[in-house]
Amino acid sequence: MDGFVGKVAAVTGAGSGIGQALAIELARSGASLAISDIDTDGLADTEAQLTAIGAPFKTNLLDVADREAFAAYAEEVNDHFGKVNQIYNNAGISFYGDVEISQYKEIERVMNVDYWGVVHGTKAFLPHLIASGDGHVVNVSSAFGLFAVPGQAAYNSAKFAVRGFSEALFQEMALAGHPVRVTTVFPGGVTSAFLGNMTAAEELGDVDLTKNFDVRLWSTTPQKAARVILGGVRKKRPRVLIGPDIKILDLAVRLTGPRYQQLVPPLLRRFMKPIS
Ligand SMILES: NC(=O)c1ccc[n+]([C@@H]2O[C@H](COP(=O)([O-])OP(=O)(O)OC[C@H]3O[C@@H](n4cnc5c(N)ncnc54)[C@H](O)[C@@H]3O)[C@@H](O)[C@H]2O)c1
Repeated sequence: MDGFVGKVAAVTGAGSGIGQALAIELARSGASLAISDIDTDGLADTEAQLTAIGAPFKTNLLDVADREAFAAYAEEVNDHFGKVNQIYNNAGISFYGDVEISQYKEIERVMNVDYWGVVHGTKAFLPHLIASGDGHVVNVSSAFGLFAVPGQAAYNSAKFAVRGFSEALFQEMALAGHPVRVTTVFPGGVTSAFLGNMTAAEELGDVDLTKNFDVRLWSTTPQKAARVILGGVRKKRPRVLIGPDIKILDLAVRLTGPRYQQLVPPLLRRFMKPIS
């Protein structure tokens, strides 16, 4: 029997990319879905696909940065389905800008969605996951939660923080004897709308970031990413890496230790086109 049959799963950022693929793959595997996003059209697209599969689902507009809304949402989902087994804290945004030129409001926006969104989702759903007797928290970090690169300080901060938060939670659940597993997900390049939606620091004006962040050569599809994540959830893995790119880079960072920070700038100078 599939590990997802009869489970109730909540997925944030379910209107696009990895979140949408997760919702569809979970529905195909027999789960009931609570899908949320800030994108109405994206949610409608996901809804149509869940309807075609015939899975029970509930849809909500939810901004993960809104703490009170997230708390109320978790209660609503639990009341609707009678339980919640899994929360996939997947919603995220990207941003480009060196520390020197990034404004506080720009850094805060990334932290509010990419870090606080994960904290809100985890804390709001945790009591229900514990009560379910078979809970799972799945928090999406990034390759940039394992190593830092220039221009990504805000995103790096959020994704490193997701990693620390989730790895501490994993151990807390084990120590407390709670029936809740925790999986932290580290995707490399995934062919979603994510990089196309990347915003840049206001000071850079109207820049084209696509040529610098074109990952088509070595990226993974959202569908494949979703299958890898659910494989890790099924096996109760604490850490899931997605794509050959992140596996190679993770190894390189482990081998070089903190020295990777000295090696990156000359490499980027040699191979990266200037942002203009
Ligand atoms: N695509 C990649 O290359 C890549 C790499 C590493 C990590 N990730 C991470 O994977 C996760 C999913 O990204 P994706 O590639 O599917 O991107 P995506 O842009 O296709 O999907 C992200 C979804 O999150 C939603 N969202 C954005 N802000 C939100 C908010 N405040 N509240 C609720 N929903 C919000 C968007 O509307 C969108 O539907 C993100 O956390 C991202 O950081 C992606």
